[in-house]
Amino acid sequence: MVVIGIESSCDETSVAILEDGKILSNKIYTQQEHTAFGGVVPEIASREHIKKIDRLFRNALEESNKTIEDLDLIAVTDRPGLAGALLVGISFSLGLHTAYEIPIIGVNHLEGHIASVTLENEVPFPFIALVVSGGHSSIYRVNDFGSYDLLGQTIDDAAGEAYDKVGKMLGFSYPAGKDIEECAKSYDGTDLIDFPVGKVKLHEGHNFSFSGLKTAVKYHAQKLTPEQVETEKPLICHSFQTAVIKAVLKNLKNACKDTGIKEIAMVGGVACNGTLRKALQDAFGNSVYFPRPILCTDNAAMIAKAGLEAYNRGERRTPHMQPTSDISRRGKKC
Ligand code: KG4
Ligand code: ZN
Repeated sequence: MVVIGIESSCDETSVAILEDGKILSNKIYTQQEHTAFGGVVPEIASREHIKKIDRLFRNALEESNKTIEDLDLIAVTDRPGLAGALLVGISFSLGLHTAYEIPIIGVNHLEGHIASVTLENEVPFPFIALVVSGGHSSIYRVNDFGSYDLLGQTIDDAAGEAYDKVGKMLGFSYPAGKDIEECAKSYDGTDLIDFPVGKVKLHEGHNFSFSGLKTAVKYHAQKLTPEQVETEKPLICHSFQTAVIKAVLKNLKNACKDTGIKEIAMVGGVACNGTLRKALQDAFGNSVYFPRPILCTDNAAMIAKAGLEAYNRGERRTPHMQPTSDISRRGKKC
């Protein structure tokens, strides 16, 4: 079965081809146009997707040695995401579907991120999935493909958003996750700034709060001169990242304890972070799984995989846009 995945929910345009669940091609274009604005500008994102999607589509077919006639299923991200950006991928997919009568299925982007870990790993169900990206920080109990229980989520900023906002304060360009990680690595001292790990007492579940941490970094930086900020950057980045890792470990340990599940998958852009990956491996050993970094950030291979699994279990959903990120209501009409 040959599946084409199409992703355009934010600032990556991506087209992938899978054959029997294996990646033949996974073309990704990351828009650089947002760097100057310190964050994604929705209008620019839509325009850039339009410029790139056709070329990526052709390149993906070429690399896979496939033609349009070989395609058995189109899987396209239809939620959540920037409306104008999603429309580009959805309209392109509907065009293909109509012209060539290829079956089509809409895919939730978060379900795609969770499926990404199964592209190249055999992860036994049930497992705990930590989705940490620019837009989301959530923990799910994954019973099977298509069956998710939400165990916790951020009540304010997402983990990646905290990285990006702290990065902006420290003068890194958007997105700042990778730069903060690199800068933190260059710190060779032992002292740490005691930034707070978010406590979320009022909400049930294993929730995150990164906004207090972000503000603490802001107040700390405000007390310093620009020169001092520059010198202290490695210490600030290291201390910030240590607080993020503490929050992640605390919630994951509690989620495992509560559910009795040992297997953990970390997915989403922040899961590229090598220091965080190592911390999870140190804490959970062989029962932790990650996608390769290129499959952690937004890509269409993960959408194709989630679409394939949904199709195989008999789900049929014509793409239609919904602003929801909820994937824990499967089986109900949405
Ligand atoms: O999954 P993704 O590509 O897009 C969303 O669905 O949001 O994630 C992008 C996020 C950005 O916030 C970026 O700063 C973060 O992932 N990120 C990282 C690293 N690489 C990317 N955060 C921390 N460490 C990294 N190495
Ligand atoms: Zn994403």
